[in-house]
Amino acid sequence: TTIEWEAENYDLGGHDTYMHKEIAEQPDAVDRVLRGRIDDRFATVHLGGLNLDAREARGVRRVKILGCGSAYYSGQIGAQLIEELARIPADAEPASEFRYRNAVVDPHTLYIAVSQSGETYDTLAAVQELKRKGARVLGVVNVVGSAIARETDGGMYVHAGPEVCVVSTKCFTNTAVAFALLALHLGRVRDLSVADGKRIIAGLRRLPGQIAEVLGDEEQIAKLAAEYANARSMMFVGRVRGYPVAREAAQKLKEVSYVHAEAYPASELKHGPLALIEPEVPTVAIIPNDDLLEKNRATLEEIKARSGRILAIAHQKQETANHTITVPANEPELDPILMGIPLQLLAYHTALVLGRDIDKPRNLAKSVTVE
Ligand code: G6P
Repeated sequence: TTIEWEAENYDLGGHDTYMHKEIAEQPDAVDRVLRGRIDDRFATVHLGGLNLDAREARGVRRVKILGCGSAYYSGQIGAQLIEELARIPADAEPASEFRYRNAVVDPHTLYIAVSQSGETYDTLAAVQELKRKGARVLGVVNVVGSAIARETDGGMYVHAGPEVCVVSTKCFTNTAVAFALLALHLGRVRDLSVADGKRIIAGLRRLPGQIAEVLGDEEQIAKLAAEYANARSMMFVGRVRGYPVAREAAQKLKEVSYVHAEAYPASELKHGPLALIEPEVPTVAIIPNDDLLEKNRATLEEIKARSGRILAIAHQKQETANHTITVPANEPELDPILMGIPLQLLAYHTALVLGRDIDKPRNLAKSVTVE
């Protein structure tokens, strides 16, 4: 079964599809997830619904994030943010796997279930299994009052607003921003400095304007989509912060355009998938201007040496790449959020060129509420 969104009740507002509308809404959506939560005085955030006092927050020794599909990939960005800002070991796992593997449930681990709909059965079942074993579970959810929101001990709403297109765009972005807020909060009850707290807050405030800037490049991205739309397969690569971006971008392309795509950590390319590289299999490389820039540039050289075409998503033009989409730089920890935006447009325009049913891709449901 699927959740009926009664799409006809929602105005397309001049857009041809909900996907396009929801991509365009992101500056406002991000504004909403930030609104009322920032505390400049203490360089932190207030997250009223967490139900986790400062002492409990300090007692968290590990964070495990669970979700399916795009929710899982946004959870991977979340895990990295929590490790970086709060220095708590954190990782994300598909809820659909977690629920079947008789996981060791640890009382000092904070579990976080991520879901746009709040109704995904695999994620809900993971929450119920965790609760049965006495774990503390928070929800990072979009739909207010949904099953996962009700069954968790507390959490955060991501306030993306109704998402109608089957594939997630604005909710993905807002979830990543929500995790940045949570990471900031967990960091500031630990050892994240006031200076770093202020730096991240300033970065968060820049996001809506910078997202709007990226959206301004749509025409260029549409041209690139037309150029790459006939690829036999697309390889998406990134290192550390770039890797979840690559995974979500590959997922998005597969879902809406049916073009085969693979995502790999750039570092793993030479351990197998490099064998796939040829002109018909272009690579999209996520290359933020961080301490891994040189490593990433070396990867581009390796791909070029195998006559692979390269589209770089970067903060400045990459000479080795055939094309570069430049995005504005934010704080390094927040860069993945911005680097995902042009790739939503790339997936959208690829699907448009190929004449796909963008809002309702074949075989997929917005919310999978059965086993
Ligand atoms: C379905 C959709 C995906 C989505 C996933 C999780 O499989 O096709 O696009 O990411 O469910 O949905 P949720 O509502 O839990 O975020």
